[in-house]
Amino acid sequence: MASLSPPEEAAASSYHHRRSKRYSSSTTNGVSAETVPDKRHKISLPPPPPSSSSSNFISLSEIEAEFSHHDPAFARINNGSFGCCPSSVVAVQRDWQLRFLRQPDRFFFDELKPNISASRAAIRRLINAEHEDEVSIVDNATTAAAIVLQQTAWAFREGRFDRGDAVVMLHYAFGSVKKSVEAYVSRSGGEVIEVQLPFPVISAEEIINRFRTGLELGKANGRRVRLALIDHVTSMPSVVIPIRELVKICREEGVDQVFVDAAHGIGCVDVDMKEIGADFYTSNLHKWFFAPPSVAFLYCRRSGGGNNLHHPVVSHEYGNGLAVESTWVGTRDYSAQLVVPSILEFVNRFEGGIDGIKKKNHESVVEMGEMLVKSWGTQLGCPPEMCASMVMVGLPVCLGVSSESDAVRLRNLLRERFCIEIPTYFRAPGEGETDSITGYVRISFQVYNKPEEYHRLRDAVNELVRDGFKCTSLTD
Ligand SMILES: Cc1ncc(COP(=O)(O)O)c(C=O)c1O
Repeated sequence: MASLSPPEEAAASSYHHRRSKRYSSSTTNGVSAETVPDKRHKISLPPPPPSSSSSNFISLSEIEAEFSHHDPAFARINNGSFGCCPSSVVAVQRDWQLRFLRQPDRFFFDELKPNISASRAAIRRLINAEHEDEVSIVDNATTAAAIVLQQTAWAFREGRFDRGDAVVMLHYAFGSVKKSVEAYVSRSGGEVIEVQLPFPVISAEEIINRFRTGLELGKANGRRVRLALIDHVTSMPSVVIPIRELVKICREEGVDQVFVDAAHGIGCVDVDMKEIGADFYTSNLHKWFFAPPSVAFLYCRRSGGGNNLHHPVVSHEYGNGLAVESTWVGTRDYSAQLVVPSILEFVNRFEGGIDGIKKKNHESVVEMGEMLVKSWGTQLGCPPEMCASMVMVGLPVCLGVSSESDAVRLRNLLRERFCIEIPTYFRAPGEGETDSITGYVRISFQVYNKPEEYHRLRDAVNELVRDGFKCTSLTD
């Protein structure tokens, strides 16, 4: 093993080493035959390891081995976009794929459904849902949004909602989800209200107040608000939304249904269905829960009017409930949906399990963000308690980020010249604002990250500043 620099040693000390019987050294990619699911894989979730035991958690070198397929030339500080998958889970996924290829009939008739059910059971326990049939497994948050919004469209078309009834969503809703709202809601006669959010954000109160205003607008002229679509963690700019408070306000204000888009939910923020109380909640597992692409869950509260939800890809199971419909949407690769129990084995090698990972990622991303703003003389996009494992970091004003295209070009430059993967954001200055920060980067922290990757970003930006670089000098 290469010798560790001091920051790496610091990181290593927080992940203690544990020798796990499940990961014997005699197997490929650290996966023993025991991790390969049986035909009817029985799931009993191991409880997360207590945070007090200190001797046998995963070591830094084992973490490095789990992510050794990452390109070592790149500082990959953008887990938020596409997540990551450890090699032990990739190996289990590969095994599922081979099982199908080896004997497709048996796989389809005997193995697929019970094992998807095992994954759903695991998710149900993780998210504290009441019943397994409230949990469907779908490809991604985009698909989940289409499922929920399609039922909204039918309600307009079938006359259960009146033309002009409102759907309220955040201005910072994810681009593809906004398109889905356009396709399903606007085209069906629904009025869409976008709640404008401040950025940078100073407090959760600001968001709560703006949301209340958005709901009032939605209810103007006697209209009903039929659906509130709220992000749990916005993508860009990234901020943790006070979701519990907003769901409560929706209930008080008589909003029919609440759908939480938590594409960055599980593994990033606390996800407890009973506590949050939404009708629909989706989270990707391939962003912060170490799943291979692509797998997400869609939770539909039993009492939340989910009976009319259907998978947009209609197949043999149509009419048997969304969870069952989603287990067969035609011939395809279902392996990503089957590895959830193996992911639990992976996260439980860390002190505190997924909660321990979440906490460490949050502390680390705040530390790295503060290091960057100190060096660049800028500020974070929100207070630390309003970020999870990602935080917006202001770029030096002198770089002159003055449009979305500038932000994209700067992102490309950081990738091409400095081998740094990092999303960038343009914030248009408000009226009369001069010399405000208009460029931000969104940094992520995940278990494979090391402080020197953020130092590389710091030094790259400082080099650009020293050289008098301006975004206007960049062309496509
Ligand atoms: C808030 C939000 N919603 C939806 C999505 C879409 O996720 P996916 O591409 O996995 O469907 C993303 C992706 O980053 C997101 O951040």
